Amino acid sequence: MIKRFFSSTLDVPAISAVPRHIAIIMDGNGRWAKKRLLPRVAGHAQGVERVRDIVEACIHQGVEYLTLFAFSSENWRRPQDEVSRLMELFVHALEREVGKLHRNGVRLKVVGDLSRFDTHLRDLIERGEKRTHGNARLTLTVCANYGGRWDILNAFKHWLADHPDGGVPDEEALAPYLSMAYAPEPDLFIRTGGEQRVSNFLLWQLAYAELYFTEVLWPDFDGKQLEAAIQSYQRRERRFGRTSEQLDKR
Ligand code: IPE
Ligand code: IPE
Ligand code: MG
Repeated sequence: MIKRFFSSTLDVPAISAVPRHIAIIMDGNGRWAKKRLLPRVAGHAQGVERVRDIVEACIHQGVEYLTLFAFSSENWRRPQDEVSRLMELFVHALEREVGKLHRNGVRLKVVGDLSRFDTHLRDLIERGEKRTHGNARLTLTVCANYGGRWDILNAFKHWLADHPDGGVPDEEALAPYLSMAYAPEPDLFIRTGGEQRVSNFLLWQLAYAELYFTEVLWPDFDGKQLEAAIQSYQRRERRFGRTSEQLDKR
């Protein structure tokens, strides 16, 4: 049974000082490598190291959900060689890190259209998810071959399959079919690497997320940088459509 969370558009969600859910576009690996005259894949490898630090920092800060954009549905457009190396890195990271995640009480989820991955990778994903299923300290979601538009269309397709008589779902009806229905909507969205765009990440779920952009390249993004992002978040006024005065009266 999926636990239902407040929707930012249908209800006003309760908010806490520490964001419950942080979603990150880990960007800038290629530029990090280029600056050091290294191949792009060296930046990706360094980026994987950062994931470990940021998972630990999130546990330390009391964040409950961390969602990372690892590979977009558009990243297949990259040179074949880079795509293959990214897949290899993903496989190695799963092979090496799942045990540690499990010991740290992390529940692993991988969302996206996994049908395009080879069976070995799919198998590793399935085993990692199963092994960590009962953990409750932090839910780490890796978005792989993920696209926000795919997510919404996929939800609609599955809703239709369950409702053969047709019709049109409303927000409340469609939401449980989205790939991250097990998590509250992100409170804080971070994009490293200086670009200020969403690049087809969680289009539906980011409706009321606070956006934070930093020039810091992902392989340089550490616990201190995360703390700065959380501090910025804590200075925001989340109104969800209401006025400041309404918030003061609560
Ligand atoms: C993000 O870093 C990682 C992935 C998209 C897989 P990039 O590879 O996009 O790095 P830049 O943007 O070229 O620096
Ligand atoms: C977004 O980064 C995807 C990931 C970080 C996985 P990109 O580097 O692919 O985004 P664009 O192409 O600059 O928008
Ligand atoms: Mg990029």
